Amino acid sequence: MAETATEKVVLVTGGSRGIGASIVRRLAADGARVFFTYNASADRANALISELGGAARVEAVKADISKAEDVEALIKHVSEAAGRIDVLVNNAGITRDTLLMRMSEEDWDAVLTTNLKGAFLMCKAVSRPMMRQRSGRIINIGSIVGLAGNAGQVNYSASKAGLVGLTKSLAKELASRNILVNCIAPGYVQTDMTDKLGEKQIADLTNSIPLRRSAQAEEIAGVVAFFASDDASYLTGQVLNADGGLAL
Ligand SMILES: NC(=O)c1ccc[n+]([C@@H]2O[C@H](COP(=O)([O-])OP(=O)(O)OC[C@H]3O[C@@H](n4cnc5c(N)ncnc54)[C@H](O)[C@@H]3O)[C@@H](O)[C@H]2O)c1
Repeated sequence: MAETATEKVVLVTGGSRGIGASIVRRLAADGARVFFTYNASADRANALISELGGAARVEAVKADISKAEDVEALIKHVSEAAGRIDVLVNNAGITRDTLLMRMSEEDWDAVLTTNLKGAFLMCKAVSRPMMRQRSGRIINIGSIVGLAGNAGQVNYSASKAGLVGLTKSLAKELASRNILVNCIAPGYVQTDMTDKLGEKQIADLTNSIPLRRSAQAEEIAGVVAFFASDDASYLTGQVLNADGGLAL
């Protein structure tokens, strides 16, 4: 399909599976030209592209978002290929869960480097084209545990709490350029990331959610679509809990 004046150019990190893949599907279905990153095997990225009809409007780019050189090359590629970047979704993230007493420095560094430094690098790199355009949306995928905390996740919770501060500060920095920065804090979503939870943990967690179920990744993608839409034009620096009431 030819690029149109209204076609949004979207970049989603960690888009080959889980919540990221649902975001890619949803924004592509809404008519955006979507670039997404993968950082391990290309198989799932290629499978998603085939599922979406091998559309020229969806492209996978290999990048490790914790490496500045990968991020620079990624933004350069998207800017040159599409001429602009309207929406960045910082979705890529990892966990290395264990209690503080057992948590290694490497567990701490790995999670903070991917989840927080990665988002910082992406925001910094994308802010240049967005400032030139005088428009843009940055949507950070945080977590409810960044607000509420969670035993066994001091590294992950700290990284997601950091994303809240990053979101609010950047919203203030970039507002004058019409770049809106928001954060979504999902609760429990069934993906590869939460596959490691045991049956009892899942039952306990589900029972503590007022809606009594986990979220479908599509339900998080719907919130992303909202923040990317014209309907969200007066929202910046917001953290929206998409958690079935878990944090109430
Ligand atoms: N699943 C949940 O219950 C849940 C809840 C709250 C928040 N989240 C957040 O949602 C986001 C997506 O999680 P998910 O559940 O789909 O997990 P997932 O493990 O299925 O997907 C994470 C994605 O991030 C990518 N990634 C990891 N490190 C990367 C790096 N250095 N560079 C580039 N890509 C990298 C992975 O390749 C993968 O595609 C994460 O930020 C996660 O913290 C998930």
